[in-house]
Amino acid sequence: MSDAIRAFDLVAGTYDDWYDHPQGRQVFDAELHAVDLHIPKEGIGLELGAGTGIFAEHLTAVGRTVVCLDPSREMLKKAVDRGMVSMLGVGDALPLRVGVLDFTYMVTVLEFLDEPVAVLGEIRETAKGGAGLTVLFINSESAWGDLYRDIGSKGDPVFRHARLYTMAEVEALITVSGYSVTERAGTLTTKPMETEVGGEITEPSNENGIIVLRAYAI
Ligand SMILES: C[S@@+](CC[C@H](N)C(=O)[O-])C[C@H]1O[C@@H](n2cnc3c(N)ncnc32)[C@H](O)[C@@H]1O
Repeated sequence: MSDAIRAFDLVAGTYDDWYDHPQGRQVFDAELHAVDLHIPKEGIGLELGAGTGIFAEHLTAVGRTVVCLDPSREMLKKAVDRGMVSMLGVGDALPLRVGVLDFTYMVTVLEFLDEPVAVLGEIRETAKGGAGLTVLFINSESAWGDLYRDIGSKGDPVFRHARLYTMAEVEALITVSGYSVTERAGTLTTKPMETEVGGEITEPSNENGIIVLRAYAI
């Protein structure tokens, strides 16, 4: 087990507390909206690195099933408590039959992967031909990127394991894994010290703390 996964086991009990904070709740709503717009309305999807299952729970809808996968037993227990279909496992070796998934998405997971290209390639090999991939990540070049890098360098139990990426770097990882990026969007247009969170969807720029890319297997 990697140090990052062990770290998530240790923080699982309090991980969702941030979403009870007024600013955290607005960040959650902004991220949720951005993902919701960039995954299909119907089909069977995988949230890779689903953690406590909070996004999967809110993205489940009539006709849209979301399965949770995470290697942290303690995080995943929370997803089970939420009633989500949950699998303990790593994205590098998906415990799924080939050709079942209509789509896959990740929410701030790429940052914690030791082998991102191996994981993206595994998703491509496992999902249906031409299935979509949606990746939400912290924009390394934004004020939020500066904040998370700073707390990571000061020993934050989670962010000291993160590697933040620029949009160009994420796009390169996705492309080299056999996908073509078709949609790019940004959100979190306000800075970390502002209590009101800008949750609108924009063209991605370094004013966005969060960027979402949607890609299709080629
Ligand atoms: C920052 S958390 C995000 C959790 C959830 N997506 C959310 O936004 O609430 C990152 C998650 O990635 C998971 N993770 C780390 N390495 C992984 C791997 N190789 N495959 C799948 N998930 C992994 C961690 O266990 C953790 O739950």
